[in-house]
Amino acid sequence: MDNATQYQLRLAERMSRLGTETAFEVLNKARALERQGKKIIHLEIGEPDFDTPANVVEAGIAALRKGWTHYGPSAGLPELRQAIAEDVGRSRGVKVSSDEVVVVPGGKPIIFFTLLALADVGDEVIYPNPGFPIYESMIHYLGAKAVPIRLREERDFSFDVNELASLITDRTRLIILNSPQNPTGGVLSKQDIHDIAEAIGDRNIMVLSDEIYSRLIFDGEHHSILSVPGFQERTILLDGFSKTYAMTGWRLGYGVMRPDLASHISRLMTNSNSCTASFTQIAGVEAISGDQTSVEHMRLEFQRRRDAFVSGLNRVKGFSCRMPKGAFYAFPNIKKTGWTSKRLAETLLEQAGVACLSGASFGDFGEGYLRFSVANSLENLNQALLQIDEWTRKNL
Ligand SMILES: Cc1ncc(COP(=O)(O)O)c(C=O)c1O
Repeated sequence: MDNATQYQLRLAERMSRLGTETAFEVLNKARALERQGKKIIHLEIGEPDFDTPANVVEAGIAALRKGWTHYGPSAGLPELRQAIAEDVGRSRGVKVSSDEVVVVPGGKPIIFFTLLALADVGDEVIYPNPGFPIYESMIHYLGAKAVPIRLREERDFSFDVNELASLITDRTRLIILNSPQNPTGGVLSKQDIHDIAEAIGDRNIMVLSDEIYSRLIFDGEHHSILSVPGFQERTILLDGFSKTYAMTGWRLGYGVMRPDLASHISRLMTNSNSCTASFTQIAGVEAISGDQTSVEHMRLEFQRRRDAFVSGLNRVKGFSCRMPKGAFYAFPNIKKTGWTSKRLAETLLEQAGVACLSGASFGDFGEGYLRFSVANSLENLNQALLQIDEWTRKNL
């Protein structure tokens, strides 16, 4: 289409409040540099570099051949909802029935649908900051009030529960938790979960518990607020297949919630996607019910890379990095460099050939940090460390 048009684009006002995920913008910028012949090490994107396990791929192909190419129920295929209910029930130690499960295309729609279903204009939503940028973006988009809770480095990127208690008001509709956490790798302990539950008490506040990295824990165990007595009916658990089974492109995730809310979230599915791709869901049944060796293999490999990369980062001038307990990110403090996060991230891309993200793209409290994804080979991670080290020696 010709760029010059007499028809001015008139966007709905709410579009001015919609944010984005900078990872995709940095990826585009890095690709543009690669087209100019530069070599870039990609540590910006949050997706496993492994292939989807072969048994899952085979199940997907067989499903296509068997004709799983049609519409299915909006809430998901009964066999997958049942498999998820059993899996979540087992891992979180609660009883879950399949009518509490809604299958959606990836984890993200659960964030969108939960906020659409629960947050009215002016309602307050408490969310982790620094945190996955989509929370803040969607809260703003809907005209709700975004109330950040600061994750504190000195607490291994957990928050102060007294601070949470002080942020809860009569307008609080939803609290978003994320453990293991993106971008910090922080993990909520059993005690943290207990304290959070106590701070909420018996208030009618819902909790969106984003547990998409639940199987990627290196130290300790995963704990969910879903397991706390009295919280099952106030929790929407978000989990999925993208990270655990390296299935980002298949688009498969789910929410577990009380059945009355599940029927509303299914209605949102009917209105937006109709359903999640049927053959993808059949592959999902195999992912959950089949051999889990590759999940453990990927976890151990991420741990190996985390150990090497974080200890390397701690040798870089001006950088200091806590050991993340989960997910596949390193979130070093770079305040001693004297640079802003955005400028340092941009300069490392352009001059050191390493793509990473500014901590500030995860919210205001992320300023002073960078996020590196360790979803790349150990060889590339070591090379990235060399290049960053060399750049800082020359320029700081
Ligand atoms: C914390 C968190 N929640 C949700 C998602 C969304 O996952 P999906 O790709 O399955 O939509 C991501 C992806 O990066 C994430 O980091």
